[in-house]
Amino acid sequence: MGEPRPFIAASLATDRSAERSRLQPAPPLRGSRIGIADPRGVRREEVQATASVIDPPSLSLSLKGGGQSERPTLSQAFGAAARLLRQGGIETPELDARLLLCHATGLSHEDYVARGDAALPPEAAARFATSIDRRLRGEPVSRILGVREFYGRPFRLDASTLDPRPDTETLVEAALAVVGGTGSRQAPLRLLDLGTGTGCILITLLAELPRATGVGVDLSHAALRLARENAEALGVGNRADFLASDWLEGLSGAFDLVVANPPYIPAAEVRGLGPEVGHDPETALDGGPDGLAAYRRIAPRLKGVLRPGGIVLFEMGVDQTEAVRRLLVGSGLKPRDDWLWRDLGGRPRVVGARA
Ligand SMILES: C[S@@+](CC[C@H](N)C(=O)[O-])C[C@H]1O[C@@H](n2cnc3c(N)ncnc32)[C@H](O)[C@@H]1O
Repeated sequence: MGEPRPFIAASLATDRSAERSRLQPAPPLRGSRIGIADPRGVRREEVQATASVIDPPSLSLSLKGGGQSERPTLSQAFGAAARLLRQGGIETPELDARLLLCHATGLSHEDYVARGDAALPPEAAARFATSIDRRLRGEPVSRILGVREFYGRPFRLDASTLDPRPDTETLVEAALAVVGGTGSRQAPLRLLDLGTGTGCILITLLAELPRATGVGVDLSHAALRLARENAEALGVGNRADFLASDWLEGLSGAFDLVVANPPYIPAAEVRGLGPEVGHDPETALDGGPDGLAAYRRIAPRLKGVLRPGGIVLFEMGVDQTEAVRRLLVGSGLKPRDDWLWRDLGGRPRVVGARA
């Protein structure tokens, strides 16, 4: 969870940047949202029927202005949408408009560049208008696309899952560093990922550690289904199991490595966010009164699932390092002072300990 950075993420004003910023309200819309010209030369009722899920007046992109009757080209649609997004206070209007236009048309970026003069088909125009409208309402691009790149691989996401954050790649880096420090990446390690969500951490580790096998645990059955799909799509399905469990309740085993990115936002901060901003499920965010509730539940049971000398790595909030380490010590684990990994912004993000 964390700071936006290039790729799709660059456009995501709702990321947990500076720890809480994903939860900041979206910028207010300026003026009336979207004009109603129908520049595509398509009968307006035809377009609106295609996009029946949204409020028609807010939908029709003013792609060329002035109610011109011919269809806009891809370039014109892009330009109009980017203008709307900029006017709406979106930080990366061109990037977002391009990603959403490619998504609406099904074109790759290369195809889009090569075919900028082609007319935008009406169905794609309606999809594009819907996407731009959602973006103007503050929805992250990754949620609209239903996919987020994490550690160089595409992960599907939906309403049941956290949108994987670039900062969580720090946890992956930490895991690969400790594995590299203790043996070969070819070792047949057993991994456990607590609160797996899209499965991004476990699946990435399985992809990077070709002989490892692992278990992803979550309370959400819907998230587990999606994680399973992601594992299959990314070619590690035969080495991954996904289990419904309340953290470590009922789990046993002798894992080499336990990783977890549990909810760690203090509850009052989650509740103060307002309904428009919460695009991530609350169960993925709410860490109880002080943000540490999940660590308190997980830590005492870790020795029961780690082999002797096994390692746990926790992602945490930037101001939680010492509290999480104390919980690990109190549970009989041995944190190492040098096991502290920072995100790209230099903020402490991951701590680790041995059983
Ligand atoms: C912060 S999200 C992390 C998701 C994913 N690992 C990632 O990094 O993008 C926390 C995850 O923990 C799950 N979770 C919350 N409470 C849980 C519990 N009691 N037992 C198991 N999983 C839980 C949520 O459903 C959510 O998927």
